[in-house]
Amino acid sequence: MLGIDLIEVDRMAAALERTPNLRARLFTPGEQAYADGQAVPARHYAARFCAKEAVVKALELASWDALDIEVVHKPTGAPGIVLHGPLTDRGPIALSITHTRASAAAVAMVVPA
Ligand SMILES: CC(C)(COP(=O)(O)OP(=O)(O)OC[C@H]1O[C@@H](n2cnc3c(N)ncnc32)[C@H](O)[C@@H]1OP(=O)(O)O)[C@@H](O)C(=O)NCCC(=O)NCCS
Repeated sequence: MLGIDLIEVDRMAAALERTPNLRARLFTPGEQAYADGQAVPARHYAARFCAKEAVVKALELASWDALDIEVVHKPTGAPGIVLHGPLTDRGPIALSITHTRASAAAVAMVVPA
């Protein structure tokens, strides 16, 4: 029902640098457009990675495709999760994201219908 994840922004930056196709494997076009539009993209990629891992924990998934868990924004700027593919009916999920220069974190919770 509840999941949390925390990662170092530098680790995400290094992974994206080292593996060019990682962006497309882990992040939807919308997530890439959002992160690439920010002053420090790696910080927002790291936050999205945390959000996906937090959702995996909240849903207790044994296997998953990162692209089936998409971070979106509400008009207020607050983040939300849209689930795709086999996960479509597993929500709704509440999400909170935070980041500093060094780290990014996210908490996800399955909201009882
Ligand atoms: C939302 C707010 C608390 C973020 O705090 P912060 O210390 O600057 O930033 P944090 O690192 O803790 O959090 C950043 C994340 O907060 C999330 N966020 C942004 N706006 C949010 C909101 N209104 N509610 C909840 N979460 C929000 C985003 O997911 C963001 O990460 P992302 O850009 O990678 O998606 C702060 O910007 C704030 O008080 N805003 C006032 C509300 C506001 O300006 N609303 C805009 C009206 S249109």
